Amino acid sequence: MRKIKIFDTTLRDGEQSAGVNLNFSEKLEISKQLEKLGVDIIEAGFPAASKGDFASVAEIANVVRNSSVTGLARSVKGDMDAAWEALKDGAEPRLHVFLATSPIHRQFKLKQTKEQVVETAVSAVKYAAARFPIVQWSAEDACRTELDYLAHIVEQVIRAGAQIINIPDTVGYITPIEYGNIFRYLRENVPSIDKVQLSAHCHDDLGMAIANSLAAVEAGANQIEGTINGIGERAGNAALEAVAVALYTRADHYKASTRLNLKEIKRTSDLVSKLTGMIIPPNKAVVGRNAFAHESGIHQDGVLKEKSTYEIISPDLVGVSENSMVLGKHSGRHAFRNRLQELELKVSEEEANKLFITFKALADKKKEMTDEDLVALVLEETLSE
Ligand code: KIV
Ligand code: ZN
Repeated sequence: MRKIKIFDTTLRDGEQSAGVNLNFSEKLEISKQLEKLGVDIIEAGFPAASKGDFASVAEIANVVRNSSVTGLARSVKGDMDAAWEALKDGAEPRLHVFLATSPIHRQFKLKQTKEQVVETAVSAVKYAAARFPIVQWSAEDACRTELDYLAHIVEQVIRAGAQIINIPDTVGYITPIEYGNIFRYLRENVPSIDKVQLSAHCHDDLGMAIANSLAAVEAGANQIEGTINGIGERAGNAALEAVAVALYTRADHYKASTRLNLKEIKRTSDLVSKLTGMIIPPNKAVVGRNAFAHESGIHQDGVLKEKSTYEIISPDLVGVSENSMVLGKHSGRHAFRNRLQELELKVSEEEANKLFITFKALADKKKEMTDEDLVALVLEETLSE
């Protein structure tokens, strides 16, 4: 099994979600939970962005010992100096420095030629490598960059001292096959590529962030970046919990694993949702309220007979106590009887059959039949006898 490192940027890219603003103690609480979850790297913030960011990155670097802590910096000395001050006392000071490489960014944002961008990147990486033991370099908007130019600049920054090369799909534009091909191209066309680790960083604008991250693993990436619950700029980043569970569940296919303690997923997801105020959609993979809920009669009957009929992930794996049978208009007799038993509502076979007819009529009018509804139904039936 190949080991895939998990780089969590909930506190940096995740905090860039519109409307999210975490305070010092909230960031600290999340970072401690991320450490428990077992993420390899925590991107704690952007130290040059504000005094608050600086203070929280410094505190997290001091407190967290079992995950490596990093901070983001643009390719300017001031940003890298601020990051060094914040991170220098950490267990493994690591800088994440980036520069945009795509034609659109070169022309409109940086106003630099291809050659100037290479020069800026190389001198930033040299400056960083003279201070930090570990330097990660990101080619912002890599996926809209000419492939031969991307390979060229990657080779130059490796020679300048970068140990991790990140290929962000900054605008969530790429498809899984194309993304995998970028990694394959770099592995074949960058002479020094074997000296570094390759990292994937995907945004979800077209809903492909998780699939793209997994395609990168197939193409040789050994680090995946993302956030808890997939929060982040615009439509968000790759949801790390789903990436990790996909790698675990389909280990037969990916032949790769992470060191995450998957049982901590639910707790981490709930904490991030509570502190950021970003509500988790019920149908969200792995952590949504409905991720382990079965509603239709056919599915409920199957799961009651043998869970694996409709469950590929055991709820217990990610720290959810049990699956749930939601009773509604699609539910069948088997789940209905089962729930009555769980609620210790004792009824005869004949009563149960009568109750099921009333239950179905009521369920047709309601989204969900609650336990209280069932108790009321049984009481009504037994009182009317
Ligand atoms: O999406 C992106 O390009 C980023 C970089 C700063 C890595 O978040
Ligand atoms: Zn990003």
